[in-house]
Amino acid sequence: MRTLGSVREFENRPVPREIISRIFEHARFAGSGGNRQGWHAVVVESPEARSALTRISSIGYREYMAQTMAGAVPFAAGDDGAWHGSIVDLEAARSTDSPIGLVASIESAPVLLVIVADLRTLAVTDIDSDHISIIGGASIYPFVHNVLLAARNEGLAGVLTTFACRAEPELRELLALPASHAVAAVIPLGYPVHQATKLKRKSISEFVTIDRFDGSPWDTEAGLIPD
Ligand SMILES: Cc1cc2nc3c(=O)[nH]c(=O)nc-3n(C[C@H](O)[C@H](O)[C@H](O)COP(=O)(O)O)c2cc1C
Repeated sequence: MRTLGSVREFENRPVPREIISRIFEHARFAGSGGNRQGWHAVVVESPEARSALTRISSIGYREYMAQTMAGAVPFAAGDDGAWHGSIVDLEAARSTDSPIGLVASIESAPVLLVIVADLRTLAVTDIDSDHISIIGGASIYPFVHNVLLAARNEGLAGVLTTFACRAEPELRELLALPASHAVAAVIPLGYPVHQATKLKRKSISEFVTIDRFDGSPWDTEAGLIPD
């Protein structure tokens, strides 16, 4: 977990199919609500599909970058927890040519996985809330994270990406997704050019409190491992 940094640049070296099998073999032990295991993985092999996925992802990437450059957290809730629309014109952002940047790895990665969720299996307990849903993905992302951990265990690396989900109609058509399913993640994987070993993360005292959200910070030093 401490070295599972995002990697977007890969060696030009194929990944044997048995390694991919082993990744799924470990990842499938993820928990899910009611143990319904509503994940499905598509291994994207055809060069045409990879190019299409890169093009589709770049649409979301453009929207994402436009919001970042305007100082917003892209597609994030406001202070009330609800989505109030983007502060930038997303239509304009989509048609603005921008460097391929973070999506380049989608086309170049030796392995490209799309993790799809069967929406009928998810118990979305915050479905009636006014805030944006957090529970929706909770039965799928443990599996997605397991895929990344299992890949790390094989000497591979990659990154969880979601840009493609901004162009859902195109994505659905490309993958022949039924209406009951939606994409949770697009994951490029491969042998890393560089593997980060020192990740920048908040310290425990910044996010753990006692008794209440605004309780005193958990500040014991016992058991801590230096970064
Ligand atoms: C839910 C989720 C969505 C993400 N989406 C993207 C993405 O679309 N493109 C991308 O390049 N990285 C994406 N990331 C990777 C994050 O940028 C990365 O986890 C974070 O910046 C920490 O970087 P590090 O792992 O290199 O320390 C995503 C990560 C998560 C958990």
